[in-house]
Amino acid sequence: MSKIHAAITAVNGYVPEYVLTNHELESMVDTNDEWITTRTGIKERRILKGEGLGTSDMAVPAVEGLLKKRGISAEEIELIIFCTTTPDRVFPATANILANKIGAKNAWGYDLQATCSGFLFGLATGSQFIESGKHKKVLVVGGDKMSSMINYKDRTTCIIFGDGCGVVLLEPDYEGNGVIDSVLKSDGSGVAYLHQKAGGSVKPATHETIEAREHYLYQEGQAVFKFAVTNMAEVAAEVMERNDLKAEDIAWLVPHQANKRIIDATAARTGVSSDKVIVNIERFGNTTNGTLPLCLWEWESKFKKGDNLILAAFGGGFTWGAIYLKWAY
Ligand code: UT7
Repeated sequence: MSKIHAAITAVNGYVPEYVLTNHELESMVDTNDEWITTRTGIKERRILKGEGLGTSDMAVPAVEGLLKKRGISAEEIELIIFCTTTPDRVFPATANILANKIGAKNAWGYDLQATCSGFLFGLATGSQFIESGKHKKVLVVGGDKMSSMINYKDRTTCIIFGDGCGVVLLEPDYEGNGVIDSVLKSDGSGVAYLHQKAGGSVKPATHETIEAREHYLYQEGQAVFKFAVTNMAEVAAEVMERNDLKAEDIAWLVPHQANKRIIDATAARTGVSSDKVIVNIERFGNTTNGTLPLCLWEWESKFKKGDNLILAAFGGGFTWGAIYLKWAY
Protein backbone atom coordinates (compact mmCIF):
# COMPACT_ATOMS: atom_id res chain seq x y z
CA MET A 1 0.00 0.00 0.00
CA SER A 2 1.24 3.49 -0.81
CA LYS A 3 2.29 5.79 2.03
CA ILE A 4 -0.50 7.61 3.84
CA HIS A 5 -0.20 11.38 3.69
CA ALA A 6 -2.29 13.79 5.72
CA ALA A 7 -4.20 15.91 3.22
CA ILE A 8 -6.22 19.04 3.79
CA THR A 9 -9.65 18.05 2.48
CA ALA A 10 -11.62 21.13 3.58
CA VAL A 11 -10.89 24.62 4.83
CA ASN A 12 -12.99 27.39 6.29
CA GLY A 13 -12.60 30.63 8.17
CA TYR A 14 -14.35 33.27 10.19
CA VAL A 15 -13.55 36.90 10.85
CA PRO A 16 -15.67 39.14 13.08
CA GLU A 17 -17.77 41.86 11.49
CA TYR A 18 -16.25 44.88 13.21
CA VAL A 19 -13.59 46.58 11.08
CA LEU A 20 -10.96 48.60 12.94
CA THR A 21 -9.44 50.89 10.32
CA ASN A 22 -6.15 52.78 10.41
CA HIS A 23 -8.27 55.91 10.43
CA GLU A 24 -10.01 54.87 13.66
CA LEU A 25 -6.64 54.00 15.22
CA GLU A 26 -5.54 57.58 14.48
CA SER A 27 -8.17 58.70 17.00
CA MET A 28 -6.90 56.24 19.64
CA VAL A 29 -3.08 56.60 19.52
CA ASP A 30 -0.50 58.89 17.96
CA THR A 31 -0.24 57.21 14.57
CA ASN A 32 -1.32 57.69 10.98
CA ASP A 33 -2.49 55.64 8.03
CA GLU A 34 0.63 56.41 5.99
CA TRP A 35 3.02 55.11 8.72
CA ILE A 36 1.01 51.94 9.32
CA THR A 37 0.63 51.21 5.61
CA THR A 38 4.28 51.71 4.67
CA ARG A 39 5.75 49.96 7.75
CA THR A 40 3.35 47.01 7.92
CA GLY A 41 1.06 46.86 4.86
CA ILE A 42 -2.02 46.83 7.12
CA LYS A 43 -5.10 48.94 6.33
CA GLU A 44 -7.68 47.38 8.64
CA ARG A 45 -8.21 44.47 11.01
CA ARG A 46 -11.27 42.71 12.47
CA ILE A 47 -12.23 42.91 16.15
CA LEU A 48 -14.51 40.51 18.03
CA LYS A 49 -16.92 42.72 19.96
CA GLY A 50 -19.41 41.52 22.53
CA GLU A 51 -19.46 40.61 26.19
CA GLY A 52 -18.29 37.11 27.06
CA LEU A 53 -17.09 36.13 23.59
CA GLY A 54 -13.76 34.34 23.23
CA THR A 55 -11.64 32.62 20.62
CA SER A 56 -13.89 29.53 20.57
CA ASP A 57 -16.81 31.74 19.46
CA MET A 58 -14.97 32.45 16.21
CA ALA A 59 -14.03 28.78 15.83
CA VAL A 60 -17.65 27.60 16.08
CA PRO A 61 -18.87 29.22 12.82
CA ALA A 62 -15.58 28.36 11.11
CA VAL A 63 -15.87 24.66 12.01
CA GLU A 64 -19.61 24.44 11.41
CA GLY A 65 -19.11 25.90 7.93
CA LEU A 66 -16.31 23.42 7.25
CA LEU A 67 -18.41 20.42 8.31
CA LYS A 68 -21.21 21.59 6.05
CA LYS A 69 -18.84 22.05 3.09
CA ARG A 70 -17.38 18.57 3.56
CA GLY A 71 -20.80 17.04 4.26
CA ILE A 72 -19.82 15.35 7.51
CA SER A 73 -21.14 15.52 11.05
CA ALA A 74 -19.32 16.75 14.15
CA GLU A 75 -19.52 13.23 15.62
CA GLU A 76 -17.13 12.01 12.90
CA ILE A 77 -14.29 14.21 14.15
CA GLU A 78 -11.75 12.20 16.16
CA LEU A 79 -9.24 14.85 17.23
CA ILE A 80 -9.25 18.64 17.55
CA ILE A 81 -5.96 20.52 17.80
CA PHE A 82 -6.70 24.12 18.73
CA CYS A 83 -3.71 26.34 17.98
CA THR A 84 -4.10 29.57 19.91
CA THR A 85 -2.26 32.10 22.04
CA THR A 86 -5.50 33.53 23.38
CA PRO A 87 -7.39 30.49 24.72
CA ASP A 88 -10.88 31.12 26.14
CA ARG A 89 -9.40 30.42 29.58
CA VAL A 90 -6.02 29.24 30.91
CA PHE A 91 -7.84 25.96 31.48
CA PRO A 92 -9.63 23.86 30.39
CA ALA A 93 -8.39 23.63 26.82
CA THR A 94 -10.31 25.62 24.21
CA ALA A 95 -10.30 22.42 22.10
CA ASN A 96 -12.57 20.84 24.72
CA ILE A 97 -14.80 23.90 24.90
CA LEU A 98 -15.10 23.92 21.11
CA ALA A 99 -15.84 20.18 20.95
CA ASN A 100 -18.71 20.69 23.39
CA LYS A 101 -20.09 23.70 21.50
CA ILE A 102 -20.13 21.96 18.12
CA GLY A 103 -21.22 18.55 19.42
CA ALA A 104 -18.00 16.70 18.55
CA LYS A 105 -18.85 14.03 21.12
CA ASN A 106 -16.32 11.48 19.90
CA ALA A 107 -13.32 13.80 19.68
CA TRP A 108 -10.46 14.26 22.08
CA GLY A 109 -8.35 17.38 21.78
CA TYR A 110 -5.79 19.76 23.12
CA ASP A 111 -4.54 23.30 22.74
CA LEU A 112 -1.23 24.03 21.09
CA GLN A 113 0.72 27.15 22.03
CA ALA A 114 3.41 28.18 19.58
CA THR A 115 2.31 31.80 18.98
CA CYS A 116 2.35 32.76 15.30
CA SER A 117 3.82 29.38 14.27
CA GLY A 118 1.07 27.52 16.11
CA PHE A 119 -0.95 26.55 13.06
CA LEU A 120 2.18 25.13 11.36
CA PHE A 121 3.09 23.15 14.47
CA GLY A 122 -0.53 21.97 14.70
CA LEU A 123 -0.59 20.91 11.06
CA ALA A 124 2.64 18.95 11.51
CA THR A 125 1.38 17.34 14.72
CA GLY A 126 -2.09 16.55 13.41
CA SER A 127 -0.55 14.97 10.31
CA GLN A 128 1.22 12.40 12.47
CA PHE A 129 -2.10 10.99 13.71
CA ILE A 130 -3.26 10.57 10.10
CA GLU A 131 0.02 9.17 8.78
CA SER A 132 0.23 6.61 11.60
CA GLY A 133 -3.27 5.38 10.77
CA LYS A 134 -4.50 6.26 14.27
CA HIS A 135 -7.13 8.77 13.08
CA LYS A 136 -9.01 9.51 9.87
CA LYS A 137 -10.51 12.93 10.63
CA VAL A 138 -8.49 15.58 12.47
CA LEU A 139 -9.42 19.25 12.79
CA VAL A 140 -6.59 21.75 13.07
CA VAL A 141 -7.96 25.09 14.21
CA GLY A 142 -5.88 28.29 14.25
CA GLY A 143 -7.45 31.31 15.84
CA ASP A 144 -6.90 34.22 18.16
CA LYS A 145 -8.79 37.02 19.77
CA MET A 146 -5.68 39.19 19.84
CA SER A 147 -7.75 42.21 20.91
CA SER A 148 -8.05 40.52 24.33
CA MET A 149 -4.34 40.97 25.00
CA ILE A 150 -3.56 44.19 23.13
CA ASN A 151 -2.95 47.50 24.84
CA TYR A 152 -4.85 50.03 22.76
CA LYS A 153 -2.66 52.77 24.22
CA ASP A 154 0.51 51.22 22.77
CA ARG A 155 0.89 52.41 19.19
CA THR A 156 3.72 49.99 18.47
CA THR A 157 1.49 46.90 18.87
CA CYS A 158 -2.17 47.90 18.58
CA ILE A 159 -1.82 48.73 14.91
CA ILE A 160 -0.62 45.23 14.02
CA PHE A 161 -2.99 42.67 15.47
CA GLY A 162 -6.53 41.54 14.66
CA ASP A 163 -8.98 38.77 15.50
CA GLY A 164 -9.87 35.80 13.30
CA CYS A 165 -9.95 32.04 13.04
CA GLY A 166 -9.44 29.40 10.37
CA VAL A 167 -9.72 25.62 10.32
CA VAL A 168 -8.66 22.73 8.13
CA LEU A 169 -9.74 19.10 8.07
CA LEU A 170 -7.00 16.48 7.71
CA GLU A 171 -7.82 13.11 6.18
CA PRO A 172 -5.71 10.25 4.75
CA ASP A 173 -4.57 10.57 1.12
CA TYR A 174 -3.14 7.65 -0.86
CA GLU A 175 -2.31 9.57 -4.08
CA GLY A 176 0.78 11.39 -2.84
CA ASN A 177 -0.94 14.66 -1.95
CA GLY A 178 -0.99 16.26 1.50
CA VAL A 179 1.73 17.27 3.93
CA ILE A 180 5.05 16.15 2.44
CA ASP A 181 7.68 17.73 4.66
CA SER A 182 8.15 20.18 7.51
CA VAL A 183 11.02 22.11 9.10
CA LEU A 184 10.05 23.37 12.55
CA LYS A 185 12.24 25.33 14.94
CA SER A 186 12.21 27.14 18.25
CA ASP A 187 14.57 29.22 20.36
CA GLY A 188 13.46 30.06 23.88
CA SER A 189 15.91 32.92 24.24
CA GLY A 190 13.43 34.88 22.14
CA VAL A 191 11.15 35.24 25.17
CA ALA A 192 12.89 38.53 25.97
CA TYR A 193 11.48 40.28 22.91
CA LEU A 194 7.87 39.13 22.74
CA HIS A 195 5.86 38.00 25.74
CA GLN A 196 3.12 38.71 28.26
CA LYS A 197 4.70 39.92 31.49
CA ALA A 198 2.02 38.90 33.98
CA GLY A 199 -0.88 36.50 34.19
CA GLY A 200 1.06 33.23 34.08
CA SER A 201 2.49 31.14 36.90
CA VAL A 202 5.72 33.18 37.10
CA LYS A 203 3.78 36.35 37.88
CA PRO A 204 0.09 35.77 38.53
CA ALA A 205 -2.19 38.74 37.88
CA THR A 206 -2.63 41.20 40.75
CA HIS A 207 -4.08 44.71 41.01
CA GLU A 208 -0.52 45.98 40.56
CA THR A 209 0.20 43.97 37.41
CA ILE A 210 -3.10 45.10 35.89
CA GLU A 211 -2.40 48.75 36.72
CA ALA A 212 1.06 48.39 35.17
CA ARG A 213 -0.64 46.94 32.05
CA GLU A 214 1.50 43.81 32.29
CA HIS A 215 -1.31 41.54 31.13
CA TYR A 216 -0.94 42.92 27.61
CA LEU A 217 1.33 41.74 24.82
CA TYR A 218 4.84 43.20 25.06
CA GLN A 219 6.96 43.37 21.92
CA GLU A 220 10.33 44.84 21.00
CA GLY A 221 9.32 45.24 17.38
CA GLN A 222 12.68 45.95 15.76
CA ALA A 223 14.40 42.99 17.44
CA VAL A 224 11.56 40.64 16.47
CA PHE A 225 11.59 42.01 12.94
CA LYS A 226 15.31 41.20 12.52
CA PHE A 227 14.84 37.58 13.61
CA ALA A 228 11.60 37.16 11.64
CA VAL A 229 12.79 38.61 8.37
CA THR A 230 15.78 36.28 8.10
CA ASN A 231 14.47 33.12 9.77
CA MET A 232 11.11 32.90 8.00
CA ALA A 233 12.80 33.37 4.64
CA GLU A 234 15.59 30.86 5.43
CA VAL A 235 13.28 28.11 6.64
CA ALA A 236 11.01 28.47 3.59
CA ALA A 237 14.09 28.18 1.37
CA GLU A 238 15.35 25.19 3.39
CA VAL A 239 12.18 23.13 2.96
CA MET A 240 12.21 23.91 -0.76
CA GLU A 241 15.87 22.99 -1.21
CA ARG A 242 15.65 19.68 0.58
CA ASN A 243 12.68 18.70 -1.60
CA ASP A 244 14.44 19.84 -4.80
CA LEU A 245 11.84 22.51 -5.41
CA LYS A 246 12.68 25.55 -7.51
CA ALA A 247 10.66 28.77 -7.38
CA GLU A 248 8.84 27.81 -10.58
CA ASP A 249 7.66 24.56 -8.96
CA ILE A 250 5.75 26.48 -6.29
CA ALA A 251 2.11 27.26 -7.05
CA TRP A 252 1.56 29.28 -3.88
CA LEU A 253 3.71 30.68 -1.08
CA VAL A 254 1.57 31.06 2.05
CA PRO A 255 3.43 33.28 4.52
CA HIS A 256 2.42 34.27 8.03
CA GLN A 257 0.90 37.75 7.85
CA ALA A 258 2.92 39.75 10.39
CA ASN A 259 4.40 42.48 8.24
CA LYS A 260 4.32 42.96 4.47
CA ARG A 261 8.06 43.66 4.52
CA ILE A 262 8.72 40.22 6.08
CA ILE A 263 6.45 38.61 3.47
CA ASP A 264 8.33 40.37 0.66
CA ALA A 265 11.70 39.26 2.05
CA THR A 266 10.50 35.64 2.16
CA ALA A 267 9.27 35.87 -1.41
CA ALA A 268 12.61 37.38 -2.51
CA ARG A 269 14.69 34.71 -0.73
CA THR A 270 12.68 31.84 -2.23
CA GLY A 271 12.40 33.49 -5.65
CA VAL A 272 8.62 32.99 -5.75
CA SER A 273 7.04 35.74 -7.83
CA SER A 274 4.63 38.12 -6.12
CA ASP A 275 1.57 36.86 -8.04
CA LYS A 276 2.04 33.49 -6.29
CA VAL A 277 2.38 34.95 -2.79
CA ILE A 278 -0.81 34.97 -0.72
CA VAL A 279 -1.31 38.29 1.06
CA ASN A 280 -4.37 39.45 2.99
CA ILE A 281 -2.58 41.39 5.72
CA GLU A 282 -4.08 44.66 4.46
CA ARG A 283 -7.57 43.49 5.52
CA PHE A 284 -6.94 41.31 8.59
CA GLY A 285 -3.60 42.40 10.10
CA ASN A 286 -1.79 39.78 12.16
CA THR A 287 -4.29 37.27 13.56
CA THR A 288 -1.43 35.16 15.01
CA ASN A 289 -2.62 31.51 14.74
CA GLY A 290 -5.32 32.57 12.30
CA THR A 291 -3.21 33.95 9.44
CA LEU A 292 -2.29 30.76 7.57
CA PRO A 293 -5.70 29.02 7.62
CA LEU A 294 -7.41 32.32 6.74
CA CYS A 295 -5.10 32.62 3.71
CA LEU A 296 -5.94 29.03 2.66
CA TRP A 297 -9.65 29.77 3.11
CA GLU A 298 -9.59 32.92 1.01
CA TRP A 299 -7.51 31.39 -1.82
CA GLU A 300 -9.16 27.91 -1.78
CA SER A 301 -10.97 28.42 -5.09
CA LYS A 302 -7.66 29.17 -6.87
CA PHE A 303 -5.90 25.99 -5.69
CA LYS A 304 -5.70 22.97 -7.99
CA LYS A 305 -5.12 19.33 -7.09
CA GLY A 306 -1.39 18.63 -6.93
CA ASP A 307 -0.39 22.30 -6.45
CA ASN A 308 2.80 22.70 -4.42
CA LEU A 309 2.26 25.01 -1.46
CA ILE A 310 4.90 26.31 0.94
CA LEU A 311 3.58 27.57 4.27
CA ALA A 312 5.98 29.57 6.45
CA ALA A 313 5.70 31.37 9.78
CA PHE A 314 7.67 33.11 12.52
CA GLY A 315 6.46 34.04 15.97
CA GLY A 316 7.13 34.75 19.62
CA GLY A 317 9.07 32.23 21.61
CA PHE A 318 10.81 32.33 19.18
CA THR A 319 9.15 29.72 16.98
CA TRP A 320 9.36 29.34 13.23
CA GLY A 321 9.03 26.85 10.46
CA ALA A 322 7.84 25.90 7.00
CA ILE A 323 5.69 23.11 5.59
CA TYR A 324 5.63 21.74 2.07
CA LEU A 325 2.28 20.30 1.08
CA LYS A 326 0.53 19.23 -2.10
CA TRP A 327 -3.06 20.43 -2.39
CA ALA A 328 -5.38 17.44 -2.55
CA TYR A 329 -8.55 18.68 -4.29
O1 UT7 B 1 3.88 37.84 14.35
C1 UT7 B 1 4.68 37.84 15.49
C2 UT7 B 1 6.02 38.34 15.23
N1 UT7 B 1 6.01 39.77 15.13
C3 UT7 B 1 6.52 40.39 14.08
O2 UT7 B 1 6.94 39.77 13.15
C4 UT7 B 1 6.60 41.90 14.13
C5 UT7 B 1 7.97 42.34 13.74
N2 UT7 B 1 8.18 43.78 13.86
C6 UT7 B 1 7.59 44.68 13.02
O3 UT7 B 1 6.77 44.31 12.20
C7 UT7 B 1 8.04 46.10 13.09
O4 UT7 B 1 9.19 46.19 13.88
C8 UT7 B 1 6.96 47.10 13.64
C9 UT7 B 1 5.82 47.22 12.66
C10 UT7 B 1 6.45 46.60 14.99
C11 UT7 B 1 7.58 48.47 13.82
O5 UT7 B 1 8.14 48.92 12.58
P1 UT7 B 1 9.62 49.48 12.52
O6 UT7 B 1 9.87 49.88 11.14
O7 UT7 B 1 10.53 48.44 13.12
O8 UT7 B 1 9.54 50.76 13.43
P2 UT7 B 1 10.44 51.14 14.68
O9 UT7 B 1 10.03 50.35 15.87
O10 UT7 B 1 11.87 51.13 14.28
O11 UT7 B 1 9.99 52.63 14.91
C12 UT7 B 1 10.33 53.68 13.98
C13 UT7 B 1 9.74 54.97 14.45
C14 UT7 B 1 10.00 55.28 15.92
O12 UT7 B 1 10.14 56.68 16.06
P3 UT7 B 1 11.60 57.35 16.16
O13 UT7 B 1 12.26 56.73 17.34
O14 UT7 B 1 12.27 57.02 14.87
O15 UT7 B 1 11.28 58.79 16.33
C15 UT7 B 1 8.72 54.84 16.60
O16 UT7 B 1 8.49 55.53 17.81
O17 UT7 B 1 8.31 54.92 14.31
C16 UT7 B 1 7.69 55.24 15.56
N3 UT7 B 1 6.46 54.49 15.66
C17 UT7 B 1 5.29 54.89 15.16
N4 UT7 B 1 4.94 56.03 14.50
C18 UT7 B 1 3.66 56.15 14.10
C19 UT7 B 1 6.28 53.25 16.23
N5 UT7 B 1 4.99 52.89 16.09
C20 UT7 B 1 4.37 53.90 15.42
C21 UT7 B 1 3.04 54.07 14.99
N6 UT7 B 1 2.74 55.21 14.33
N7 UT7 B 1 2.07 53.15 15.17
